[in-house]
Amino acid sequence: MAYLELKNVTFRYPNGYTAVEDINLAFDKGEKAAIIGQNGAGKTTTVKLMNGLLKPSAGEVLVDGESTKKNTTATIAKKVGYVFQNPDDQIFQDTIYKEIAFGLKKSGLHASQIEKKVLEAAQMCGLENDLQEHPYNLSYSKRKFITIAAIVAMDPQVVILDEPTAGQDRKSTELLGKIIDDLTAQNKTVITITHDMEFVVKEFKRVIVMAEKRKRRDSNPRDIFWDYDLLKLSNLKQPYICQLADKLGYENILTIEDLLEGKES
Ligand SMILES: Nc1ncnc2c1ncn2[C@@H]1O[C@H](COP(=O)(O)OP(=O)(O)OP(=O)(O)O)[C@@H](O)[C@H]1O
Ligand SMILES: [Mg+2]
Repeated sequence: MAYLELKNVTFRYPNGYTAVEDINLAFDKGEKAAIIGQNGAGKTTTVKLMNGLLKPSAGEVLVDGESTKKNTTATIAKKVGYVFQNPDDQIFQDTIYKEIAFGLKKSGLHASQIEKKVLEAAQMCGLENDLQEHPYNLSYSKRKFITIAAIVAMDPQVVILDEPTAGQDRKSTELLGKIIDDLTAQNKTVITITHDMEFVVKEFKRVIVMAEKRKRRDSNPRDIFWDYDLLKLSNLKQPYICQLADKLGYENILTIEDLLEGKES
């Protein structure tokens, strides 16, 4: 049985607007997947349904076999951690250390264990030298890593990252890739929303495309990035290497290595 499952999920906001319709998705432990799609497609709404911040208007979300409707958001969040799209919606402590430690303190752990977990998460996110800084003295990029560390420190089975690549330079994007790989190596499930198509090709073999409230494809990047109808529907651009291959008259190329070999798979 999948660890996390959405079954025919529809969600309407209180103002009556239906943001997602009839979504079916399942994720196992140790899996990593990207969610991509146009602005307003319903990506953030979908992942907020996964950790109980939102409860479905119709259908069911199952975490570890239990409907999110039966549990509080706080209980579900122990299993499914959600890193907000905007870090400033998540950060409210006055040092990075306190921010990462906040959830751990509430969990009743011993002080020495809290410190160990904070240091581990900070190290993973490249923050070990900034722990006494005020979060707002750091860049947007670093603040995003603070929010990732705060969630990772809580050790949830599923980690959801909502646009972690936004505003990140090459080095930070590489660090994100490493964090995602480290987490999946620990058998965690990592679900990442992103608009960075190069990052998608580099990091993910499973990619979910959303457009206009619905899941439109759940497949591999080669299938997705060479389907022009799908790209048009979901307002997605091909990664640059695909665009170049297309101009050179190739199809189904995904990487520089594919192109150099003139491979069409
Ligand atoms: N609290 C809310 N009340 C009413 N409508 C909302 C609310 N939050 C989001 N929406 C609407 O639901 C739709 C889906 O929003 P969502 O944030 O899930 O999209 P998204 O795919 O994450 O987009 P983006 O790429 O811009 O982050 C949008 O039309 C949005 O305006
Ligand atoms: Mg969003």
